[in-house]
Amino acid sequence: MKHILDNLDRRRADARAGGGQARIDAQHARGKLTARERIELLMDHGSFEEFDMFVEHRCDDFGMEKMKIPGDGVVTGWGTVNGRTVFVFAKDFTVFGGSLSETHAQKITKIQDMALRNCAPIIGLFDAGGARIQEGVAALGGYGEVFQRNVLASGVIPQISVIMGPCAGGDVYSPAMTDFIFMVRDTSYMFVTGPDVVKTVTNENVTAEELGGASIHTTKSSIADRAYDNDVEALLQMRRLIDFLPSSNTDEVPEWPSFDDAQRLDKSLDTLIPENPNKPYDIKELILKIADEGDFFEIQEAHARNIVTGFGRIEGRSVGFVANQPMVLAGVLDADASRKAARFVRFCDCFNVPLVTFVDVPGFLPGTAQEYGGLIKHGAKLLFAYAEATVPKVTVITRKAFGGAYDVMASKHLRGDINLAWPTAQIAVMGAKGAVEIIFRADIGDKEKIAARTKEYEERFLSPFVAAERGYIDEVIMPHSTRRRIARVLAMLRHKELENPWKKHDNIPL
Ligand code: HXC
Repeated sequence: MKHILDNLDRRRADARAGGGQARIDAQHARGKLTARERIELLMDHGSFEEFDMFVEHRCDDFGMEKMKIPGDGVVTGWGTVNGRTVFVFAKDFTVFGGSLSETHAQKITKIQDMALRNCAPIIGLFDAGGARIQEGVAALGGYGEVFQRNVLASGVIPQISVIMGPCAGGDVYSPAMTDFIFMVRDTSYMFVTGPDVVKTVTNENVTAEELGGASIHTTKSSIADRAYDNDVEALLQMRRLIDFLPSSNTDEVPEWPSFDDAQRLDKSLDTLIPENPNKPYDIKELILKIADEGDFFEIQEAHARNIVTGFGRIEGRSVGFVANQPMVLAGVLDADASRKAARFVRFCDCFNVPLVTFVDVPGFLPGTAQEYGGLIKHGAKLLFAYAEATVPKVTVITRKAFGGAYDVMASKHLRGDINLAWPTAQIAVMGAKGAVEIIFRADIGDKEKIAARTKEYEERFLSPFVAAERGYIDEVIMPHSTRRRIARVLAMLRHKELENPWKKHDNIPL
């Protein structure tokens, strides 16, 4: 009997050794952890159960029949994160560069199926060279199977991708269909075709970092939602993110013990809005003062910074914050900000995460760059996302809510459940100066007349009360009581029931 048990031990040890010590050392020398080390950090200690560690490829071209490594370049299984079930697959770069073969793909699809069937999130850790070149079409078929499952799981279970090394060719499209992509600075890059192909096809000289490094994908392309300095930080932050997310679309948001009084008043908020309406202030200060213990997980922090999106908690339960940021472009809505916020709103709506929206928006950004860039369609994405969302929606207008942007930002007209305004709110078609210059164009030369008209317009329209008189604002509240108000509203909305008409799916302006 002992030799049977020893045999199992030996086979397990072989599989755990992956591509061998030299390749593990090379991985470490590049500042990267191995697939199994990463999973150990991601999961609760000792909770990881591995599947398919003895799977080998079936390729016998190019001498591959002599090169079989158990596990075939991907480690798969499940475990827990703070006690909650999570499925995981981690590409093992030490085995054939983590490249995807037919059997490698089958290991991943098995985990995808299990995650979907068991209503639990799935996390993919990527560090790989794309399709296993020796396998040809079998690898392409494998990718197709993975992609199909990504799509079926979208909106049913949270899917998260972490890019921790190369991610090229077929490997980029699976992450692109997941809910969030995170990257590790300096060691990870993502692109459809690498620098050599780019050089051949377009004659462009570009490095891997310039083409698809974390700095590019978190700022310019917005492919990645955030970047971290190293593997350890990235994995610990994934644990933090999982704590905010429901396990599936039929699950409620997780509830964690909160040590922050929901009744807490914050007098400093009464002076957050500057006297001068054109002076900026940091909307993140408001979010941090409202969220439990100031704990805020920001999504797309470095892209379209004129809008802020991310997760926090109120009374221990997750909420999604969306807020215009007056510090950047005066908080205006442009194409990038609209797309960023629309995607976040849709994620929250898929997964029953209530939305808390803070509004201070001077309108949509004018100009040819925006119009040529499709502002109408991108702006419509955010409008569409808020309008279709059936989760609890609480909106607080802190200052400006002008023009179409007023409607878009979770207004009453888009089924905002409770819409509050600070006394400093200004809800109007546009600012006083612009309005007077249009309505009283004939008086433009007369400074006194224009000043008087401007004052008249400000007094009449630049307050929350005209909207409140019509019931578009449910209540004008003291800034210091904002957290208490939001907490009470969310408690009241906990059992909200609202359904959209049946449809196969909608046709959001893509
Ligand atoms: C088989 C691969 C491989 C691949 C890497 N390896 N990529 N084996 N198929 N796709 C192996 C290498 O032979 C090497 O094996 C080991 O992994 C490490 O690779 P290195 O090149 O030594 O590492 P590094 O210098 O860090 O470069 C990593 C890399 C590079 C940038 C990923 O390996 C690379 O460019 N690979 C090919 C990328 C590619 O073109 N993939 C196909 C994409 S097409 P040894 O034994 O020496 O350790 C695709 C189409 C799918 O994916 C489309 C579906 C929609």
